[in-house]
Amino acid sequence: MNRYKIFAEITDELFKINTGINFGNDIFQMLKKVISFDSGYIFFQNPERLEHSFNPQTSCLNDIKPPYLKENLEFKNSVYAEIVIAGNGFDEADKKIFKAFSSIIANIIKDIEIAKVIKMQGEILQAGYIETSKQSTKLKRADKAKTKFLSHVTHELRTPLNSILGYSELLSAEIAGKLNKKQKDYVEDIKIAGINLLGMINEVLDISKIESGNLTLNITNFSIENSVNEVVNTIYPLALKKKIKISKKICDIRINADCQKIQQILFNLIGNSVKYTPENGNIRINVSVKDRKLIIAVKDNGIGIDKKYHKKIFQRFKQITESDSNSTGLGLAITKELVKLHGGKIFLNSETGIGSEFVVELPLN
Ligand SMILES: Nc1ncnc2c1ncn2[C@@H]1O[C@H](COP(=O)(O)OP(=O)(O)OP(=O)(O)O)[C@@H](O)[C@H]1O
Ligand SMILES: [Mg+2]
Repeated sequence: MNRYKIFAEITDELFKINTGINFGNDIFQMLKKVISFDSGYIFFQNPERLEHSFNPQTSCLNDIKPPYLKENLEFKNSVYAEIVIAGNGFDEADKKIFKAFSSIIANIIKDIEIAKVIKMQGEILQAGYIETSKQSTKLKRADKAKTKFLSHVTHELRTPLNSILGYSELLSAEIAGKLNKKQKDYVEDIKIAGINLLGMINEVLDISKIESGNLTLNITNFSIENSVNEVVNTIYPLALKKKIKISKKICDIRINADCQKIQQILFNLIGNSVKYTPENGNIRINVSVKDRKLIIAVKDNGIGIDKKYHKKIFQRFKQITESDSNSTGLGLAITKELVKLHGGKIFLNSETGIGSEFVVELPLN
């Protein structure tokens, strides 16, 4: 049969050749069906690549004795290897067939290389994905354990703290006997430290509940005026210490909401106003009804907040001012969640050096 015809037949076979370690051997065996030669080599320019050869007594083109046929293997106009066959002599037909054969091999190797790269990238991605999902499972587990621990510890801390606050209240009311000026001051300090600590504990407890999705509403019907007054009374010692005046205008209505959570919102906002307003400042609390919405506004003439931080401060642990050790940076994040839980919204108007106003809108139903 005509050699070109045989070659045409083997090209189909060539593409089916497995590209494993026998690749060189296999292709040269096939070429032997149309050209007679003793040994065949593929020399890659990149030494990291596998060298494919047939009868491989040599690994360098210079060692091969003529006569031999040599062709470049190219990809995108750059030579990446040379393919060589050596034997006793070659005719024109051999040269033509070898040239065609080389270009087929160049294509096959190019495909292998691309496939290898794709496979390698796939493996890297897969490994990265497995690693990431492993880490994320670990993190989730650790996060759950942390949340559980925090909620347990903070809950246990709240009980004795409430009795510290209760007894210091009794002492300062002088129910158990009169106190001298110094004793009164000390009791006031205990009370202030207790209120701050209770605030922090409540925040950690709330954020744990929010994170674990355990925060639910306990809706009751209550007077908003009484609620605000109770919160103001709790915070009052802190305001008194800084000689901050708190004024209120509260519409006298009853609302359906979670009383404890509404008080927590008030506690966070009024607490912030006291914290971020210098001595002798003013805080104004306005509660009104507009368009079937309850509007709670807490306004102060404190240090204010730059516009660029208006969104950020609602994120967890975001603090813009150097805060004291009583601050965790959770208050507004929790407040926002509690407002959202009630189907409401919170807004901020503030300018540095002038003051801040936080407005909470809650739907009335
Ligand atoms: N009324 C305000 N005036 C000025 N800055 C405020 C006011 N309220 C909040 N901020 C700023 O927003 C930041 C976030 O407030 P947030 O209540 O979340 O945290 P915090 O008060 O620092 O700590 P805590 O968790 O104890 O409440 C504060 O650190 C402060 O920089
Ligand atoms: Mg706060």
